[in-house]
Amino acid sequence: MVKRKTCIFISGQGSNLKNLIFRSRDKNFPITISLVISNNKNALGIEYAKKYNIPYTYINTSCKNYENKILLNLKKYKISFICLAGFMKIISSTLINNYQGKIINIHPSLLPKFKGLNTFSRMLKNKEKNAGCTVHYVNKKLDSGNTIVQKKFTINRKDNEKILKKKTQKLEYLAFPEAIIKIFRNN
Ligand code: GRF
Repeated sequence: MVKRKTCIFISGQGSNLKNLIFRSRDKNFPITISLVISNNKNALGIEYAKKYNIPYTYINTSCKNYENKILLNLKKYKISFICLAGFMKIISSTLINNYQGKIINIHPSLLPKFKGLNTFSRMLKNKEKNAGCTVHYVNKKLDSGNTIVQKKFTINRKDNEKILKKKTQKLEYLAFPEAIIKIFRNN
């Protein structure tokens, strides 16, 4: 199988990146991780790129021409697919136009509910029954592209933000690889 050269965008912990690195070692998994882009110099996730010998680059997304720098890097590594894994910056239309239908994101809520930040505190405040995660295509509107995979769990009375995050991330480690397999299954 020809694996798609993929770039993972991160800003922080990188636990989803780590999970995808492990999954992509399987010869039947449809992607290979060819590049990691971080917009945070101190992102812990960069350590995984170093440890597993994956090229990585820091891009300062406050700079005016940052999109061109990203595009140049994507070109250099012949990237054909992008996964946003905790990337804390709204993707620009330049990038979306260049990678139409080729960018996916993981979000810690049952979209379309709770787009944006602070999902867990808002869920608790709203006394939601269920929580979960969504893997979706990225379009020009925040957290609004078509859903690929969604996984949910029932919120327990005792769950706080920390527990909700933990339970959600456990599902994310299943949902992200599942979404990637689903996308490329028939290609
Ligand atoms: C994930 O929970 C994801 O849903 C959100 O950011 C978090 C990133 O976590 N978009 P990690 O950096 O993969 O550990």
